[in-house]
Amino acid sequence: MASAHPPAPVLCGLGTWLPPHVVTNDDLSRELDTSDEWIRSRTGIGRRHVADPGTATSDLAVEAGRRALKSAGLDAADTVVVATTTPDRPCPATAPLVASELGLGTVPAFDVGAVCTGFLYALATAAGFLAAGSAGTVLVIGADTYSSILDPADRSTRAIFGDGAGAVVLRAGDPDEPGALGRVELGSDGRGCDLITVPSGGSRDPIRAETADRADPFFRMEGKKVFRNAVERMAESSQTAAERLGWGVGDVDLLVAHQANIRIMHAVADRLCLPRSRCHVHLDRVGNTAAASIPLALADAAATGRLQPGDRIVTTAFGGGLTWGAAALRWPDVSPA
Ligand code: UT7
Repeated sequence: MASAHPPAPVLCGLGTWLPPHVVTNDDLSRELDTSDEWIRSRTGIGRRHVADPGTATSDLAVEAGRRALKSAGLDAADTVVVATTTPDRPCPATAPLVASELGLGTVPAFDVGAVCTGFLYALATAAGFLAAGSAGTVLVIGADTYSSILDPADRSTRAIFGDGAGAVVLRAGDPDEPGALGRVELGSDGRGCDLITVPSGGSRDPIRAETADRADPFFRMEGKKVFRNAVERMAESSQTAAERLGWGVGDVDLLVAHQANIRIMHAVADRLCLPRSRCHVHLDRVGNTAAASIPLALADAAATGRLQPGDRIVTTAFGGGLTWGAAALRWPDVSPA
């Protein structure tokens, strides 16, 4: 007999990868007009990992993807979705190469672009594939190499971003089992597209020989305006995601927010009347890793015992676009690899 519900997306594997090279705040302060004291007090960040020259986003994504499959006890997945703002190349997408490198054959593979909210958009996309019966397992990877788009002279972005990748495996399952994701809440507001942007190099402002001297190929962010929007949108979407599973916000054991700034995470917790101690903090060791931030933080929370099977968690993000979102789930019995 057909089931009354479409299959729910159930998290069954988690893997991460960070490039080995670590850059501390003191390292940055030898190059730029900044200090460990400023970066820690304004952001909560202490260090970040940076990819060596020649390492691309697909290299990080493949390592994280391999580990997520291992954590799920699988050697294949039916579909690969990569969330990234820093693809190996503007064309083609990065996911097909990742799928091939993982030995997954000719499975559907494509990228999702929603900047720091990309991982949540990719989860929602994967959930659609599972609900439609188009896949039984989906490998969802968030991977970014922001060091490739940062202006070496811009202290406000160099202090914040780090490189990395995190991946989960979602399988078709039952909405009541641990690991089942509730509906992913998503939103966007393109009126804010200039607040987080790489101004040149796209179709709006292609880099051509005759315009090269005024082109800006680097990542730019209006931090203060983004900060205000991020708090409001992450708090709202977190509350909705929790309520959709019938939880009060106070029932949430751990808030795993996009690791943009500890002051943003604390402000979101305050707005939700959730004790700040229920925010998982990982950015002190990795900075803001964009699309990789949520799976990296989930893996850190699970590996350090901060997350226990059965815990109620809400995960939320905000990023360029502008885009935002949140998802809620009960933590499954999964060990990150
Ligand atoms: O991941 C996507 C979502 N991103 C976010 O959510 C990021 C949101 N924004 C933020 O986290 C914060 O706005 C920042 C950390 C980016 C900046 O903190 P802020 O408290 O908003 O500082 P600000 O941009 O208003 O800058 C204050 C001052 C400026 O100097 P003046 O103009 O007042 O002289 C900056 O030039 O701090 C200066 N500054 C720095 N000083 C030392 C900016 N970056 C640095 C730095 N070291 N690294």
